[in-house]
Amino acid sequence: MIKKKTIDEIFAAARVDDVIEDYVNLKRRGVNLIGLCPFHNEKTPSFTVSPAKNLYKCFGCGKGGSSINFLMEHENFTYPEALKFLANKYNIKIEEEVQTDEAIEEQKKRDSLLLINGMASEYFQQQLNDTEEGRSIGLSYLKHRGLNERTIKTYNLGYSPRDSKHFTSYAIEKGYNKDLLVELGLTSINGYDFYRERVIFPFHNLSGKVIGFGGRILKDNAKAPKYLNSSESEIYNKRKTLYGLYQARQDIRKQDTCILVEGYTDVLSLHQSEIKNVVASSGTSLTIDQVGLIKRFTPNVIVLYDGDAAGQKAALRGLDIFLEQGLNVTVVILPEGHDPDSYVKELGTSGFTDYIKEKGQDFILRLAHHIQENYQNDPVNKSIQIKELVRSISLISDQIKRSLYVKESALILKMEERTLFREINRNIKSDYNKRKNQRTREAPIPEKYVDFDPDQDHSQGIRAKVDPTQYQERDIIRVLISAGEQWFDEEQEIRIGNYIMANLEGVIDYTRDESFKLIFKEYASASDQGTVLDRQHWTTHENDQIRMIAIDMLSDKYIYADWSKRGLELQTQKPVEENYIKDSYQAVMRFKMKKIIERIEELKKLFASESSDSKDLILITAYQKLLKERQAIADELNMTVI
Ligand code: CTP
Ligand code: MN
Repeated sequence: MIKKKTIDEIFAAARVDDVIEDYVNLKRRGVNLIGLCPFHNEKTPSFTVSPAKNLYKCFGCGKGGSSINFLMEHENFTYPEALKFLANKYNIKIEEEVQTDEAIEEQKKRDSLLLINGMASEYFQQQLNDTEEGRSIGLSYLKHRGLNERTIKTYNLGYSPRDSKHFTSYAIEKGYNKDLLVELGLTSINGYDFYRERVIFPFHNLSGKVIGFGGRILKDNAKAPKYLNSSESEIYNKRKTLYGLYQARQDIRKQDTCILVEGYTDVLSLHQSEIKNVVASSGTSLTIDQVGLIKRFTPNVIVLYDGDAAGQKAALRGLDIFLEQGLNVTVVILPEGHDPDSYVKELGTSGFTDYIKEKGQDFILRLAHHIQENYQNDPVNKSIQIKELVRSISLISDQIKRSLYVKESALILKMEERTLFREINRNIKSDYNKRKNQRTREAPIPEKYVDFDPDQDHSQGIRAKVDPTQYQERDIIRVLISAGEQWFDEEQEIRIGNYIMANLEGVIDYTRDESFKLIFKEYASASDQGTVLDRQHWTTHENDQIRMIAIDMLSDKYIYADWSKRGLELQTQKPVEENYIKDSYQAVMRFKMKKIIERIEELKKLFASESSDSKDLILITAYQKLLKERQAIADELNMTVI
């Protein structure tokens, strides 16, 4: 764990504008900077960076946050990765919390393995480019296959020499540990090189580190395997890797589509033909983890299959996993005897792109056609196939999409829609029961915070109904986070956070939302110690949910929601940012109002349920007091009590 102190330092240094300027061309507009959003396609800039708030926000696609969030989104860094990246950029020394010895050892081990692979990759590249053998055998092979220097460099292709101990001797001479070389599969137990006379394709993780290798044989020699791939290690898990994703990720995002091919060489070839949003599954069937990787960048996938009929059906079946994960899949099958590499060479870039567009068929419909064409005279197998097709359709979670597929498939298969629907419903029911108990852990996305409409609540005056949207709690949280450290009363040295906490005593436990409760509690304990927590504390919070709430609340939509619309005209002419006092005061008032109304309702129920003479005088007095308080607050807030 990185120490809080280091995180604070990083945040202090990493000005959002400074960080984003490395990626987006920003122009000044008023107090903000604007540019074209890197997260969606746009022609007029709606991507806004506020140096004052140290936040960015795109008014087109809604993405927003701190410099850290930007990097997490743009580079697909994890939170710690983004912190480390910035620490590096700003020369901040990372201090980490004391870890267990075990964790330290594991990390060290992973670092050493990555280091060795990095060294090995350099070695293979150097062999390819700077040695006689490498150039005459390896490089000439790659050139012969039409790959140019730039592509070779982009993918860090290399060559392993014929000499059976050349690499291992080199590495050991340099002081690298033999056991680790063996563990990575670079060296055999007997000390021989694993890769000999092969071209080397390094596999990168999303930070560009080399985690493994594939080595292709040069002669098409049936005795040896065409490719030798690294064995799995602590840093390489083939089920969680997609070849070429590191090089393709920006383009996948830009085009909002990922092209999936089977082979390494297909990736290289398409990339060189300027079709750069391409990754390879490396000839195996796809895993959930791999689909998840794609999903981080786009929901749209085009799968290109080599044109050999045998592979087709198996391939199509493997695609269910996309549907299950909510991705949109299009399948393109290349003509017999072609793979993407050979076909793009034949058609050229625009021809190939047109082909994809033209032949691009939705996976489900493709399967429906396939069944209709191949099982016409075989009703038994046809019905088995249709059941499978319907299974695939059942996996789609979007109901509208699902029913469109049913309609289309029914047409293709010349069947009644009803029959398909019935089968689907049966599947869904049984799936639901199966899945109920095995819910996967999902990343917290605070959608409920995004859709909130601040105008809904009070504009029509207070109605005596308990507010289900937790509006008041969220409003208090918003003020706490955005203005907690501001003065409420400077002479008395009371900050807004202290004021709010003092007024909330006793009600925190009633907060229903767990994240809000956590925020309150953390705030209260800081407040008890006489300090308040600033914005940065929240936007850098280790709890993902809290961090996202904070960022969300600090983004423009929530800062000083349009109060004038609710008859809460601000009395001063100060810019909104300086109206913290009024804001916090009103937030507290509304919060109290909510509690009062809840109490009034409770009492009303109590009175209604009992005979009138049992009404306790104390309760009646309390009731009247509550009504008075409600009126007072309503007057104060300029609201109508109905
Ligand atoms: N593959 C593998 N081991 C093999 C054969 C194939 O790992 N013995 C994987 C590789 O990831 C390969 C992919 O399956 O890229 C597709 O195989 P293939 O089409 O045979 O290879 P290409 O990459 O297309 O290579 P080439 O163009 O040189 O035939
Ligand atoms: Mn191939």
